[in-house]
Amino acid sequence: MNDRIDPPFFKKLILAILMIAVSVAGLLGWSYFQRSSDKEDSPRESTPMTMSPAERRWQAFLSENFAGDRACVECHSEQFDAQQRSGHSRTATPMAESSLAQILNGKSYDDPRRDQSFSFSREQDQFFVSTIDAGREVKFPVTWLLGSGTHARTPVSIDPGSGLGVEFRWTWFANLEALGVTPDHERFDDYQPGTLDCFGRPLGKTQVRACVTCHMTAVPPEEIPASREHFLANVGCERCHGPRKKHVELAHQGRAEESPPLFTYDDPEEYMDRCAQCHRDETNIPSDTAPHELARFQPYGLKRSRCFQESSMTCSTCHDPHDRVSTDRAQYRRICLSCHSSSEQTACPIEPAGKCIECHMPAVEWSSGIEFHDHEIRVP
Ligand code: HEC
Ligand code: HEC
Ligand code: HEC
Ligand code: HEC
Ligand code: HEC
Ligand code: HEC
Ligand code: HEC
Repeated sequence: MNDRIDPPFFKKLILAILMIAVSVAGLLGWSYFQRSSDKEDSPRESTPMTMSPAERRWQAFLSENFAGDRACVECHSEQFDAQQRSGHSRTATPMAESSLAQILNGKSYDDPRRDQSFSFSREQDQFFVSTIDAGREVKFPVTWLLGSGTHARTPVSIDPGSGLGVEFRWTWFANLEALGVTPDHERFDDYQPGTLDCFGRPLGKTQVRACVTCHMTAVPPEEIPASREHFLANVGCERCHGPRKKHVELAHQGRAEESPPLFTYDDPEEYMDRCAQCHRDETNIPSDTAPHELARFQPYGLKRSRCFQESSMTCSTCHDPHDRVSTDRAQYRRICLSCHSSSEQTACPIEPAGKCIECHMPAVEWSSGIEFHDHEIRVP
C-alpha cells in the first residue's frame, strides 16, 4: 500500500488501454486489461499443460535452486518456528485462500467516501469483487492479498497476460477489525466511471513488480506470465539467504560446510543494504515522503543515528530477523544500557534507567491509525 511510484508513462498507457477496454468490455473486469497484450486475445491463466518453453525453463530454475521453507525445518527448527511467527512468512497470500476471503464471502461493503458499494464472493478457487459501474455490474477477480495483517492487508489483482494490475480501494485494518479505504486512495475519491479506477488504483507493470518483489521470495522475469504458479510467495528463508537447494542436498550428506553462505550479514553496511531493499533507506524512499512518514523506513532512520554510525550495530542488535517484533520494552532497555551505562559511553542525563524507547524511539502515526517507531535514535 502507498508505494508511490507513479510514472506518468504508465498512467497514459493504462488510460489508452482503458479507452479500448471500455469499448469492448464484457462483464468480467479482466476485460479492463484486454488488448493490453497484443499476442493474446483473452487473458489466460496458464496451466502446466499449456506452459510455453520459457515458462517451463523458469519452473525448472525454481525447482532446481529453491528448496522452500519447509525443507529447512528438520535442521533449523529454531529459525523456522520464529519465521512462522513473523509477518515475513505471510506477506503475500492467494486471495481466495486467505482468512479474509472467508470473512468477506457473501458480504458487501459501502465505500465511506464514494457513493459506491462492493460485493464479495468466493467461487470454487477464485475470489471476486463486483460493483455497479457506468450502469452495469462489473465483476473482477482478486488474485493476491498483500500484508500479514499485523497492521493491514491490501488486495491486488495482477493480470497474468499483460502484467498490469490494480490495488483495490478497500483494505482490512487490524485496528478497526474491518475494511476501510486503502491508505492514499483518498486521491481517487473522484473517478472516471467505466475505467479501472472504479475498483482502485491502476498499477503499471513496474508498480506491480515493485509490490511483489518486496512481498515475495521469487518473481518471474517480465516475459513470463504473472500467474500464481510462477511466484514464490512471502519473504521466505531463501529471500534473505539465497536459493539453498544445493545446501540442503549437501547437508543431507553431512557436507553442509561445502555450501558457503550466498549472502553474509557480518558487515553492518551490507546487512543494512539487504534489509533496505524492502524496508528502504535514503536510496529508495519515495521522493514525496512527508516527514511524519519517514518512521516507516527503519534502515533510513537507523543509518542516520550515531548509535549505528559509531558502533557495529545492525537490526539484529535489537531484533531476531527471523521473528515477530518483540514489544518487551524492558528487553530493549537492557539493550540500550548494554552500551549506555558503561563509563566509556554516554549515559542519559535525563532518565538513565527510564523508558528509553518512549523518548528516543517514539511511535509516530503514519496513516489510518497505523504507527511506526522512529528508528532515528536521537536526542528528542
Ligand atoms: C540436513 C540439515 C540441513 C538442512 C535441511 C538445512 N541446513 Fe542449513 N545448515 C546445516 C548445517 C549443518 C549448517 C552449518 C554449516 C557450517 O558450519 O558451515 C547450516 C548452516 C546454515 C546457515 C548459516 C551459514 C550459511 O550458510 O549462511 C544458513 C543461513 C542456513 N544453513 C540456511 C538454511 C536454509 C535456508 C535451509 C532450507 C532451505 C537449510 N539451511 C537447510 C544443515 C542444514
Ligand atoms: C523482500 C523484502 C524484504 C526484505 C529483504 C526484508 N524484509 Fe522485513 N518485512 C518485509 C515485509 C513485506 C514485511 C511486512 C510483513 C507483514 O506483512 O507483516 C516485513 C516485516 C518485518 C518485520 C516485522 C515482523 C513482525 O511480524 O513483527 C521485521 C522485524 C523485519 N521485517 C525485519 C527485517 C530485517 C532485519 C531484514 C534484513 C535482514 C528484513 N526484514 C528484510 C519485507 C522484507
Ligand atoms: C520497497 C518495498 C515495498 C513495496 C514496493 C511495497 N511494499 Fe508493502 N511493505 C513493505 C515492507 C518493508 C512492509 C513492512 C513495514 C511497513 O508496514 O511499512 C510492508 C507492509 C505492507 C502492508 C502491511 C502489512 C502489515 O500487516 O503490517 C501492506 C498491506 C502492504 N505492504 C501492501 C503493499 C502493496 C499493495 C504494495 C504495492 C501496491 C506494496 N505493499 C508495495 C515493503 C514494500
Ligand atoms: C528477513 C531476512 C531473513 C529471513 C527471511 C531468514 N533469515 Fe536466517 N538470518 C538472517 C540474518 C540477518 C542472519 C544473521 C543473524 C545475525 O546477525 O544474528 C540469519 C542467520 C541465520 C542462520 C545462522 C544462525 C545464526 O544464528 O547465525 C541460520 C541457520 C538461518 N538464518 C536460517 C534461516 C532459515 C531456516 C530461515 C527460514 C525459516 C531463515 N533463516 C529466514 C536473515 C533472515
Ligand atoms: C551497540 C551499542 C549501542 C546501543 C545498543 C545503543 N546505542 Fe545509543 N549510541 C551508541 C554510540 C556509540 C553513540 C555515540 C557516542 C555516545 O554518545 O556514547 C550513541 C549515541 C546515542 C544518543 C545520542 C545521539 C546524538 O545524536 O547525540 C542517544 C540519544 C542514544 N544513543 C540512545 C540510545 C537508545 C535509546 C538506545 C536503545 C534503544 C541505544 N542508544 C542503543 C551506541 C549504542
Ligand atoms: C523522559 C524522556 C527520556 C527518557 C525516558 C530517556 N531519555 Fe535519554 N535523553 C532525553 C533527553 C531530553 C536527552 C537530551 C538531554 C540534554 O541534551 O540535555 C537525552 C539524552 C540521552 C543521551 C545523550 C547524552 C549526551 O550527553 O549526548 C543518551 C545516550 C540517552 N539519552 C540514552 C537514554 C537511554 C539509554 C535511556 C533508557 C535507559 C534514556 N535515554 C531514557 C530524554 C529521555
Ligand atoms: C536499538 C534497537 C533497534 C534497532 C537497532 C532496530 N530496531 Fe526495529 N524496533 C525497535 C523498537 C524498540 C521497536 C518497537 C517495538 C514495540 O512496539 O514495542 C521496533 C520496531 C520495529 C518494527 C515494527 C514496526 C514499528 O516501527 O513499530 C519493525 C518492522 C522494525 N523494528 C524493523 C527494524 C529493522 C529492519 C531494523 C534494522 C534496519 C531495526 N528494526 C533495527 C528497536 C530497534
